[in-house]
Amino acid sequence: MTVLLKQTETEAPPAPPMHVSDAATPLRARQPMAAHMKCLPGDARPVLPYPNGWFAACFSHELKRGAVLIRPLMEREIVLYRTQSGLVRVIEPYCPHMGAHLGHGGRVEGENLVCPFHRLKFGPEGGCVHTGRAGPTPRMALTARHAREHNGLVFTWVHHEGHSPSWELPVHDMSGWSRPAFVHHEQEGYFQNSGENSVDVIHFDTIHRFGQPEMSARVVDNQLEVRMSATLMGKPMFLHLTNYDAATMYGHFTVPSLGLQAVVRAYSTPNTRLRWSLRIVTTLKVERFARWPAGVRSALYALMKPLAGVWSDRTSHQDTRIWDHRGLPGSFKLMAEERPAALYQRWVSQFYSCDFPGVKPSATDRPLHKET
Ligand code: FES
Ligand SMILES: [Fe+2]
Repeated sequence: MTVLLKQTETEAPPAPPMHVSDAATPLRARQPMAAHMKCLPGDARPVLPYPNGWFAACFSHELKRGAVLIRPLMEREIVLYRTQSGLVRVIEPYCPHMGAHLGHGGRVEGENLVCPFHRLKFGPEGGCVHTGRAGPTPRMALTARHAREHNGLVFTWVHHEGHSPSWELPVHDMSGWSRPAFVHHEQEGYFQNSGENSVDVIHFDTIHRFGQPEMSARVVDNQLEVRMSATLMGKPMFLHLTNYDAATMYGHFTVPSLGLQAVVRAYSTPNTRLRWSLRIVTTLKVERFARWPAGVRSALYALMKPLAGVWSDRTSHQDTRIWDHRGLPGSFKLMAEERPAALYQRWVSQFYSCDFPGVKPSATDRPLHKET
C-alpha cells in the first residue's frame, strides 16, 4: 500500500475525479491593480491583489489519513481532508445542506466526510451519499477545489477569473538525495517578496554573505530561469533557480569543490492581508557518499538532514527580517546590474488578473504561460 503520511517524497495514488466547481472563485475582468489595493488600519502599506496559480495548502505529512484541516487562503478558509484510503480532497468549508463549517467537527468515516451538524455523509466524488434517514438521498454536493499532491505537499488552484488549471507544477524525483527537511514560516508583509528574492542579485551579497554574486535570467518554456555564480566561504558555488509561477520556486545549489549539492524548494501562500506562509523543502546530495554502502549513506544523510533544515531556516530568516516590514513591491528603481529583477516583474505579471505595478499593460495582455 502506498504510504502517504510520512515525510517522504511518496506520491498519492491517482485520485478519482471529483466534481470541481470553479464558480467558487468570482469572475473578474482584468482591471488596473489600484482598483484592488486596500490599506489595513494602522499599516500604511496597501494590500496587493493575489495572483492565479497553484498554492501550497499544507505538507503531506500534516494531513494524515482521516484528518480534517482548516487552512487560510487569500482571506478565506479552505478545508482539506484525507480519506482512509489516502485520497486528498480540498473543499470550500460550508456544508451544502445548512452551512455548517466542515472543518469544525467534520470527520472522515472511511471514504466519506461526515458533517457535524445533521451528519449527512459526502463521498469522495463530493456528492451526498447517506443521510441516516428515510427517504431519497438528496442531490447536493460539497464544493470541491482543484487539488494536487506531490513533492511532499498538497496544493490547490486559484484563478480569479474562474479558469480551470492551465499548467501543472513539476514532480521532482529526488531519489538518491537525503530525505527532505521541512521548514514552515508564518510571514508578515508581502507574499510577493519570496519570488522577488530569487532575482535580487545584490541581496545575496548584503544579506546572505555570498561573495561576488553574478546573475542572469531568461524565460524558458514560460518559466523564469535564473543562473547565479558566487562564492560561499571562499569556494565557488553555482545556483540554477526556476520560478514556475508567482508562488513556486526550485533552487539547485552546487559547490563543486565540496561535491555538495542542495535543492531548495520554496512555496509561498497568501493567507490573509499582509500575512503569508513560506514552506521550504531542502534536500542534500554529497557526491562521495555514492561510493559508500547504502546503509552508511542513509545514516550520513540522516545526520545531515537537521543541518539542511537549520541552514534553510537561518537563510530564510536573513530575508524575512527585511520582508516583514518592506514596502510595496513592484515599483522599483533598479540599478544596471538588476536586469533579472526587471525581467521578473514582466514575467510574473502574467499570473495576475489585473495589471502589476511597474509593468505596462501591453506587456501583460498575452499570457506567457502556455495553456496545457
Ligand atoms: S449542515 Fe451539514 S448536514 Fe446539515
Ligand atoms: Fe534571500
